[in-house]
Parts: sequence; structure tokens; C-alpha cells
Amino acid sequence: MTNYPRQMFNRVLCVYLYALFCISISTSALAQRDPNKVLTYEHFLGQTPNTGAVKSFELNASVSKLTIAGAKPTTLWSYNKKVPGPVLRVQQGDQVKITFRNNLPEPTTTHWHGMRVPNAMDGVPGVTQAPVAPGGTFVYQFQALDAGTYWFHPHMRSHEQVERGLYGVLIVESIDDPVYDQEWVWVLDDWLLTSQGAVEDSFGVRDLDTGGRLGNVLTINGKNKPAFEAKAGERIRIRIINASNARNYKLDFGAAVSNKEGVIFAVDGNLTALPLQINGFEIAPGNRIDIDLTVPTGNIKRIPIVNTFFHREARGNVSTGLETLATINIVGQTQTPKSFDIPKHERMPNWSSAHQLPIDYSYDFSTKINFGFLWNGGPTVHFVINEKRYGEHEVTQLKHRKFYHLRFTNGTGLYHPIHLHGMFFKVLSRNGVQVNEPFFRDTALLDYDGSIEIGVVPVDLGKWMLHCHLLEHSALGMMTLVEVTEKSKKPKNQSSSGALECQN
Ligand code: C2O
Ligand code: CU
Repeated sequence: MTNYPRQMFNRVLCVYLYALFCISISTSALAQRDPNKVLTYEHFLGQTPNTGAVKSFELNASVSKLTIAGAKPTTLWSYNKKVPGPVLRVQQGDQVKITFRNNLPEPTTTHWHGMRVPNAMDGVPGVTQAPVAPGGTFVYQFQALDAGTYWFHPHMRSHEQVERGLYGVLIVESIDDPVYDQEWVWVLDDWLLTSQGAVEDSFGVRDLDTGGRLGNVLTINGKNKPAFEAKAGERIRIRIINASNARNYKLDFGAAVSNKEGVIFAVDGNLTALPLQINGFEIAPGNRIDIDLTVPTGNIKRIPIVNTFFHREARGNVSTGLETLATINIVGQTQTPKSFDIPKHERMPNWSSAHQLPIDYSYDFSTKINFGFLWNGGPTVHFVINEKRYGEHEVTQLKHRKFYHLRFTNGTGLYHPIHLHGMFFKVLSRNGVQVNEPFFRDTALLDYDGSIEIGVVPVDLGKWMLHCHLLEHSALGMMTLVEVTEKSKKPKNQSSSGALECQN
């Protein structure tokens, strides 16, 4: 009998320890699912002020004779008869209303790259809207939730429509933006031009089964090697957008610009937590960077800006290696140098142990020979994700406000700029090595035979594209969808037709 209380005590202790064990397991599992308590993701994005203003724009896609790279006028496809198209400027919090008209000979849609918009406004044909037929219109309407540098382009046959000149810029200003002496918007593109200066007309398999269409003339805002003028000591904001189908860039401002005078302070519209070095950042198709440049004083008269990205797959007829993209000519000196802090992201999570979490979904980017050529002509290659091309794809189901660890692998020996619509993500590792990028982005370059792991917390509901932004690859199938829902259950009958505004 004397043993009874002891037995009882031992039993109670056992139950107690077991309960403690269970609680600690489940709380650590919770913490694992929730690195740095990501449940309030809006916290990282910040608050959107409500300006109460509506900014309205007309956007017309058409075919006309325009000049590219200083050649004689040639046939281009463009928005508002300009290449690049218009720069649409709004304030964070504004309602944006864009009345789009399609005067092209084929259907199109307009996608607002990087913008978090209601799913029905995302411009993806067959997913968020019906294609806008020739002669048709569509009204895009959304609130500008996040400040930054964005762009827009068609999401139909984009390997040809974008390449022929259809792209424009959307800038969302913040009341916290410092006032620079100058602001430059640089849209980078490369054009495959004939010796007559016309856009090379074959958009066929020749380009589609390779590393994509690399042009032979590099332009900024449609000009080859343009010159920009600045005064020594001026503070300049440069918003850079890569609108190329396939070309990657790495800018080098040379020794004239020190790491103090030039920094990158935003990537894909998002402020960085710390300034990044101005030189050497990979700008893949779709990427944007914002630069804060203090024009050096001293004896320097010119700053050449060189592209140092070397395309290993470049064909013989494409120039490779260093290429001057632009020059800044320094003329005079400012009497009123600006001093303000470089804008920075104040609430960047570091997710430093997130790469150790189990992988939720993996995506393998690879190619597959289409044996259809046995009966209908030449061989073609499909660019696939997890062995499936777009159309055969499985939709990844994600719950909103939940942290996901995604992995991308590359088995192709080609570059793939991975782009996710409707959300920003953070790169956690490259080729198995942990990295700490102090910023969110919407596009990341997957290197030759490499891998990337990302962390993402989807917020906005709907079906969002996940695809390769090398436009020839996406044309050949390298696209899939993720669906963000509130519950794990897929909502039934939620077709986008209710939100369609197609007025053909
Ligand atoms: Cu630049 Cu799917 O887009
Ligand atoms: Cu690709």
C-alpha cells in the first residue's frame, strides 16, 4: 500500500511529461509552419492608404510604322503608338482604370506584371478573362496597393506580341518617395532586326527550341546606346525594367561610381531592407530594379553603362560579352545637393531558418521531345514543368496567409526566369546554398542546371500563373497555375465570368 502513492505519482508524472512533450512538438511544428509569425503578411507589405482618387487611362494596341534604334520607320506593334508604350503614373492607394482597346489583327490581353490586382484583372486568357478580340475593349480596374516600378504586356502569344513592341510602364508612387533631381525610366530590350532595320519576321520553331530569341540590337527606351545628361552631384532615381524576351542583363557602372554613390534600393517594385551594390545584379526578363545614383563629382565626364551578362547559349550571330548600353554625360555641377536617406523596407522578414522547413511543392523545369513530328512535320520541343506542359498542368492548391516553401529545379542547361503572378516571394537558397536576399521579388533567374528555393505567403485569392518568363519557353508550355483559396477546399463554380468585362 505504501507504494500506491508513489505509483500514482509516477503515473501522473508520466502523463504530465507526455502532455508536455505533445504540446512542445505541436508548438514547434506550428513555429515551423510559421517562420517569424508570417500570419500577418500584410505587415510586411505595409498599409495601403486610400487616396480616394480614380486615375483613368486609355490604352490602345495597334500596328503602325515607328522607328526603333534609329533605323527608318518599320512596322511595330505598340501601345498608344509608342515603343515603349506610355508610362502610367499613379499614387499608391489610387483606383486605376484602364480602358484597353485591341486594334491588333489578333486577340490579346494585358497583364500588369508584379501588381497585386483582383484575379479577374490579371489579364490571363482562359483563366481570368476571355481574350480581347480585334476591335474589342476591356476595362481593367484595380487599386494600386503597393508602391514601386511595374510594367504591363500582353499575355497571349507574348513571345511575338511583346517582341514586336507591346509593353509599357506602370509606376506607383508613394508619398514617402524622396524627391530626386531627376527620375529616369529605362526599359531594356533587345531586337532581332534585319539588315533593313525591320523586326525579323520568323517567330517560328527556330527560336522556340533554343535559349529564346536573343536580339542583335540592344536598346534602352527604343534607342541604341542612348546618352543621358546629368550634373555632378545630382541625385537620380533610375527605374530599370527588362522587357526582353530572353536576354538577361547585369549592369556595370564602372569604377567611376562608388558603392556609396550608386545603390539598388528596390527589386521588382519592392524596397530592399538594405541597399544592394549597383553593379552585377542579375536582371532577368520581367525583373525591375530601382537605382539611387549620386552623380560623381571630380574629373569624370562620362559614365558608360555596360552589360556584363554573358549568355552561354548565344548563337553565332548574336553579339556576346560586354556591350555598352548607355552613357551618362556629366555636364556642370548642381549647387543644391540633395541629402535624404535611401528608401528602405522597414519590415522585411529574414526567414533565416525557413530553408530548413520541408518543401511543400517542387517544380522541375525541363524539356521533352514531341514525337508528333513523326506524322506532322518537323520535331518540336515542349518546355515542361514536372513533365507537363500548360494545358496538361495540375493546379497547385495554396491557402492564403500560409507560409509555403517551394523548390524549383532545372534540368535543361538553359536559363529560366521564374515568375509568379499575384504575390511576392523571397529566395531562400540557390543551388542548395542558403542565401539571404533582403527583399521580396516576383521573378528570379533559375540558373543552368541549378535550383532555387523560395518562401512565399500568398495573400490574394485566385488562380495565378507560375511560368518561365523567357517568352519562347512559356509559348512552348512552360507555365502552370497556383490557386490561392481561403480554405483547403476548392470553391465550386467560381468561374471568373461574373467579373468579365469583355465588351467585344
Ligand atoms: Cu510578365 Cu505572366 O508575366
Ligand atoms: Cu525557360
